[in-house]
Amino acid sequence: MTVLEAIGKRYSCRAYQDRPVEPEKLDSIFEAARLAPSAKNMQDWRFVVVTDKAKKGRLAEAASNQMFIADAAAIIAACSNSDHVMRCGQAIGPIDVAIALEHICLQAVELGLATCWIGSFYPEMVRAVLGIPDNIAVIELMALGYPADKPKEPRREPIENILCYEKWQF
Ligand SMILES: Cc1cc2nc3c(=O)[nH]c(=O)nc-3n(C[C@H](O)[C@H](O)[C@H](O)COP(=O)(O)O)c2cc1C
Repeated sequence: MTVLEAIGKRYSCRAYQDRPVEPEKLDSIFEAARLAPSAKNMQDWRFVVVTDKAKKGRLAEAASNQMFIADAAAIIAACSNSDHVMRCGQAIGPIDVAIALEHICLQAVELGLATCWIGSFYPEMVRAVLGIPDNIAVIELMALGYPADKPKEPRREPIENILCYEKWQF
């Protein structure tokens, strides 16, 4: 599978099989995350993988009751231990974590797995479930598992709406 094929196959999976992810697959998924680039190579990401059924249920409640994530084999709580802001004014934590998470998504595709980004959640609730300290930002949750649904055609803007060359032409 080429990288572009993996990108094309990734979709937001909202129905999962009741089937665990093999430990070696989890290892390779987090190796993909570990190899991601980060600002100043700070590697400020920290991941908590949750497979316990009761905890997944509580995380689903914390995710605005998006209960489908409780059916995923794993929920990844993606955190950052950095509050560093780059000269451009952007915080590195969410950017670095997002890059690593997309590596996770693409490696999951390669392994026949599916994912869903989850940004709609209450971080304080997630913190309470997982014992995440106050100085650590909970950036995103991600559901991971074997899909029980079928990929949908992606709805995307045509390239001319998002790309120009040499100067701003939108
Ligand atoms: C940062 C981020 C947060 C998201 N949060 C949620 C979410 O809380 N619940 C959900 O079902 N999908 C969530 N999504 C998935 C998007 O809705 C989805 O990526 C988008 O509609 C495009 O569809 P596709 O991923 O199937 O291509 C999120 C995606 C991103 C990138």
